[in-house]
Amino acid sequence: MNENEKIPYVVSSKSYTAVAINCAAKAGEWIESKLGTVKQLSTKTSAQDIVTEVDKGAEQMIRKLILTHFPDHAILGEEGVAPGTEAYAKALDDAKDEEYLWIIDPVDGTTNYVHGFPFYSVSIALAHHGEVIVGVIYDPSRDELFVAEKGKGAYVHGNPTYVSKEEQLSDSLLATGFPLDSTVNLPLNMAELQALLPKVRNVRAGGSAALHLAYVAAGRLSGYWEHGLSVWDVAAGALLVQESGGKVTDTEGRPYDLSVRHLAATNGLIHQRFLDTLKDAGEASVR
Ligand code: IPD
Ligand code: CA
Ligand code: CA
Repeated sequence: MNENEKIPYVVSSKSYTAVAINCAAKAGEWIESKLGTVKQLSTKTSAQDIVTEVDKGAEQMIRKLILTHFPDHAILGEEGVAPGTEAYAKALDDAKDEEYLWIIDPVDGTTNYVHGFPFYSVSIALAHHGEVIVGVIYDPSRDELFVAEKGKGAYVHGNPTYVSKEEQLSDSLLATGFPLDSTVNLPLNMAELQALLPKVRNVRAGGSAALHLAYVAAGRLSGYWEHGLSVWDVAAGALLVQESGGKVTDTEGRPYDLSVRHLAATNGLIHQRFLDTLKDAGEASVR
């Protein structure tokens, strides 16, 4: 949407978006009330991949709420999928063509949550025949609610969000996430980081993919990239960035869809130079 178009944003009652907002707000409030009380810390694919009873409880709460309103809709939530690449691929394949598919990350940034580092979020998206049409990300620490509807723009607390205006990498603030896979994705990410750092203003690694994307949408970051992501980390955030005027592709420049795991999202203006640097770094790292 154009920055000069000042059409007031109204969420229609009973809409998918209203339900997504309600779910994210309720789950976020509950998560915040449980901060510092985590009792069961379990690991998934590795010692760094953690899950708590709060992640599971929040997902249950969101599922129940969605099904109350839309009993025939499908749901793909992180805590409903067994850990590992194969189970992930099957779950996504089974779900991706559903007419209406809700995609949930009940706590994005669990490590931060467990440590009391206030950068985590609830991420909820709705896809229609594989295309994301609603994205909501709620940050309970700052009480910030980011909302996007396909074709209707993106908003934080009702105010339109726009991506930043940096045209040069040298003026850009980027973010990334460190992959858990230490054989392929981590060495690649390290090589990219080393190539980008001298070219940009700085790089952050906040620890919530969804919030990084919300921050690109809101113009607080110029761009973000990460390897080995899951659909629930990015579905809502990708729509937020697109509806704020930014660009979302995989790290090789292919347009975003639900299958993308290596993601690059920017203000659009730096996108090609950003991808070129990632490409050069990737090629140099395998030489
Ligand atoms: C993780 C966070 C983190 C990102 C990881 C994600 P989780 O999600 O988004 O920032 O680096 O790739 O898996 O496990 O906290 O939901
Ligand atoms: Ca996540
Ligand atoms: Ca999660």
